[in-house]
Amino acid sequence: MNFANIILEELEPGIFLLTINRPEVYNALNQATVADIKNARDQVEKNPDARVLLVTGAGSKAFVAGADIKEMHNMSGIQGRDFSLEGLRVFRSLETLPIPVIAVVNGYCLGGGCELAMSCDWIIASENAYFGQPEVNLGITPGFGGTQRLPRLIGRGRTMELTMTGRQISAEEAKEWGLVNHVYAQGELMQKALETARNIVKKGPVALELTKDTILRGQDMDLDNACALESKAFGLSFSTDDQKEGMAAFLEKRAAVFHGK
Ligand code: CAA
Repeated sequence: MNFANIILEELEPGIFLLTINRPEVYNALNQATVADIKNARDQVEKNPDARVLLVTGAGSKAFVAGADIKEMHNMSGIQGRDFSLEGLRVFRSLETLPIPVIAVVNGYCLGGGCELAMSCDWIIASENAYFGQPEVNLGITPGFGGTQRLPRLIGRGRTMELTMTGRQISAEEAKEWGLVNHVYAQGELMQKALETARNIVKKGPVALELTKDTILRGQDMDLDNACALESKAFGLSFSTDDQKEGMAAFLEKRAAVFHGK
């Protein structure tokens, strides 16, 4: 499938790259781009060979500088609500994709861009990346999950500060705050992302899927129920060939070869 606003490509067997491709507007998210993200995400889910998805922005300036202000500026309240609902649906569907999804943030990561990155499983960033929720500067609130995912990642006080001042923080500060896992020089960011993806491709796909699902479902449960969910996932993983292979490989001192069943 061809997309107008994104590029979806298989870089290496199992490793997919989704690039938001509107560099002339710092990859701002209009409604068509949000729809493209959903279709691309669905295409990846349907591909049984897909093992990892990397998400990045085209060009050297921005990952995504937010929702498209030009498109939004004449929206009514109802249109704004519907845009928010659609963005939230799409980002949730990306978040629950049953393979690891890594945000590769190569520049400005603001508003809807920060919300897109937070819908990925974790974030790596280049030294020139800036993060923020500057919606207050435009007289609006965050609309694609910023008020909810940000406090879960960096805590309430820091979220209050970012959303109420509109301040941008550097990649280093974002790392210190727990929003970003690793910061790399811009020139080596994609190489580092690929190294991580190649490592993940060697792991058991069912174990990855169960682990991700348990973390996502468990994080908002009480601890007893969340731990019960974990034990069920743990038990289920023993029903796979991958578990037999993984443990046999360890005991035989060789590398495991997983088949995802
Ligand atoms: N929407 C539409 N166009 C955008 C955009 C956005 N969010 N961000 C940047 N652009 C466009 C600019 O209009 C400009 O286009 P022109 O050349 O046609 O004028 C081009 O991208 C480059 O931008 P600048 O000239 O402003 O570049 P800069 O380097 O001076 O500044 C910036 C970069 C700090 C990121 C600045 O562009 C900026 O502040 N952008 C807006 C950031 C923002 O407010 N994001 C939140 C949007 S609201 C939102 O996301 C709601 C939500 O939660 C869903």
